Amino acid sequence: MARVFVLNGVNLGALGTRRPEVYGTLTLKDIEERLRDRFPQVDFEFRQTDYEGEMVGYVREAGGSDGIVINPGAWTHYSYALHDALEAAEDVVKVETHLSNVHAREPWRRHSVISPAVNAVVAGMGPYGYETAVDYILGRSKT
Ligand code: DQA
Repeated sequence: MARVFVLNGVNLGALGTRRPEVYGTLTLKDIEERLRDRFPQVDFEFRQTDYEGEMVGYVREAGGSDGIVINPGAWTHYSYALHDALEAAEDVVKVETHLSNVHAREPWRRHSVISPAVNAVVAGMGPYGYETAVDYILGRSKT
C-alpha cells in the first residue's frame, strides 16, 4: 500500500471560510475526505500546522514514505528551512500544491523558494490539485 503524506501549512486550517473567492468553500476535512474516497488504496497521513518547526518535523517523518503533497501556504515564498527539509527527504516524490493560481496574483506570490526541492508543482486547480498530485505520486512510486 502506498503511503502518502498530505501536509498543509500556515493558515490552511481556515479553508472554507478564508477568502472563499480565492480558495473555495471546501474545508481541509472535505479535501481530505475527497482524497480518501478517490484513493482507497492509499494509506494517507494528513497534517496541518501553523508552526514552521512542526512542519519541518512532518517532512522529516515523511522521509520513508512514497510521497509528500505539500501546500506550505505563505512559507512557500520565504522558508529556506522548509526548502532544506524537503531537499533532505530523498527518495520521496514531492509535489508542491497550491489551490490558487499564484502566478495570477500579487507579484510576491510568483516566487517559490520551495520549488527547487520538489519534483513537481501544481497551482490553480483548487482542491483537484491535491488529487492530481496524489495521482502523479502513484504513477511514479515504486509500490
Ligand atoms: C496558497 C498560496 C499562498 O501564496 C498563500 O500564502 C496560501 C495558500 C494556495 O494554496 O494557493 O496560504 O499556498
